[in-house]
Amino acid sequence: MSTDIIILAAGKGTRMKSAKPKVLHCLAGKPLLQHVIDAARTVEDAKMAIVIGHGSEQVREQITGSDLSYVEQAEQLGTAHAVLQAVPALREGSTALILYGDVPLISTETIAQMLAAVADDALALLTVTLDNPTGYGRIVRDSQGSVQGSVQGQVTEIVEQKDASAEQLLIQEVNTGVLALPGELLKAWLPKIGNDNAQGEYYLTDIIAIAREAGVRIETCQPQSAQEVEGVNNRLQLADLERYYQREQANILMTNGNTLADPSRIDVRGQLETGSDNFIDVNCVFEGKVTLGSQIRIGPNCVISNSQIADGAEIKANTIIEDTTVGANTTVGPFARLRPGTILEENAKVGNFVETKKAIVGKGSKINHLSYVGDAELGQGVNVGAGTITCNYDGVNKSLTEIGDNAFIGSNTSLVAPVKIGAGATVGAGSTINQTVADEQLAVARAKQKNITGWSRPTKKS
Ligand code: UD1
Ligand code: CA
Repeated sequence: MSTDIIILAAGKGTRMKSAKPKVLHCLAGKPLLQHVIDAARTVEDAKMAIVIGHGSEQVREQITGSDLSYVEQAEQLGTAHAVLQAVPALREGSTALILYGDVPLISTETIAQMLAAVADDALALLTVTLDNPTGYGRIVRDSQGSVQGSVQGQVTEIVEQKDASAEQLLIQEVNTGVLALPGELLKAWLPKIGNDNAQGEYYLTDIIAIAREAGVRIETCQPQSAQEVEGVNNRLQLADLERYYQREQANILMTNGNTLADPSRIDVRGQLETGSDNFIDVNCVFEGKVTLGSQIRIGPNCVISNSQIADGAEIKANTIIEDTTVGANTTVGPFARLRPGTILEENAKVGNFVETKKAIVGKGSKINHLSYVGDAELGQGVNVGAGTITCNYDGVNKSLTEIGDNAFIGSNTSLVAPVKIGAGATVGAGSTINQTVADEQLAVARAKQKNITGWSRPTKKS
């Protein structure tokens, strides 16, 4: 069975006070609309039609996929009118599911639950019971035992806040807006919806009363958490949802056997996969796809993006790691910056104020202090002294520095690439090396020291 998912995203989002369309604002580093699309993508044989209006060019440009199409709603005349724009995109015989571009945390489980409840003669409506239902459409049922939070009886209609009677306003079960039904019924019913209501809008919610009249069952589903169906209207709500999301990520990490110094001070903006027994200190940010092994310690204030870190590594405070592979039992930082293409093999050490880029650092090799190592291949057991710089760029081209096993590079050395240092070679401190050093050789390339006795310092001219 195919599913056509209509995502409403035409609203302006005035309260965001932004030049950017609301659905492009990010939660956990990802646009709100992208969260919805990613959840929708878990549905088998799904196609998505996204209804856009305000800022539609920006949305089209930034969010793409072969499984999604865009339809424009030039004027925002209401949710039913918005859905109507997507009707031509519906495939024959498919189920229609309506989601919202500004309700980012809808779960795949809830979507699956909704789709399972749809039948030829049944539609699925997602409702939630709130302590404060103000602003939402109220779910009216035929036998409301007690009005307070009651979910008994059959749903007869949804009444919007502005159209509700004083008695209906007490109903705490509200409409989330999420709805699933056979596409053919949606096509047949939408044109029946008028705009004779308090807001003069075409309400999608009118479909419930129409279904009821047609003898179609209305199955209600509830989300696992209220945050799943919370919409973002302003930046305060966005921040609240972000915190909720991050706390959920922290809970998953802890459940999987990781210790967090403070679960309220970690940000996961992507996918973080872990083994167990890792310790993560405060204020660490994980971006993109990051994989951690086990028994890893990560100090405070680290930013780790799209990288893999193997068992037993220790990442000390204030380290930035991007597109890097960090081997087992390595030590990195504090204040290290591993840039894209860095590979640290096991037991390697990269210390404070060291920057690496496209660099392979062999087993047990050390770059302990204040160095730049870029476009370089270091063998095993190499020692790179403090202040060593690979001069990888001549202003036009990038060139490679190769250092053999167990070589020793003295402090404050410039390695002018392309250059090769042999295995077991030694480079004297302060050298500028631009020629090959053979295995086991000592290279010293610096002005010889002169000691002048009786030297008098210059004096100020009068
Ligand atoms: C809607 C529901 C209400 C429900 C609430 C949940 C209707 C009539 N009411 O009310 O029962 O409790 O959502 O949040 O459906 N949109 C368009 N085009 C339009 C109008 C809206 O794309 O012409 C989009 C908006 O961008 C927004 C969403 O649809 O993302 C909901 O629209 P909004 O006007 O906020 O509906 P509510 O009044 O909140
Ligand atoms: Ca709304």
